[in-house]
Amino acid sequence: MKWYKVLGLVCMEGIFIKKVKVGSKSICLVNFESKLYAVSAKCPHAGADLSEGLCVRQLIVCPYHRYTYNLETGKGGEGQNDFIETYPVEVKEDGVYVGVASIWDKLRGFK
Ligand code: FES
Repeated sequence: MKWYKVLGLVCMEGIFIKKVKVGSKSICLVNFESKLYAVSAKCPHAGADLSEGLCVRQLIVCPYHRYTYNLETGKGGEGQNDFIETYPVEVKEDGVYVGVASIWDKLRGFK
């Protein structure tokens, strides 16, 4: 797994959704109830940019058709039968890092 610094130190108050680039991926960094989540920025339904959506409870809500995805698991709402990718987040002394597993990591069973 490779870790990428995506932000400097951030204020963890309030709710925010920021789109960050991690390698070739666009990822939404979401702060909800003082916890950071990283999820794919592309909605699997029709490709909307989830960073333009809302955060309600522990869900990110797509701005186009209001599909919802759990920030922790990436699982779509009831009846959607879809999901978004989730990524581990670490807050270190110098900023916020997101971990991305390579295809080889996934094949070896590392997430
Ligand atoms: S594009 Fe996201 S719900 Fe349709």
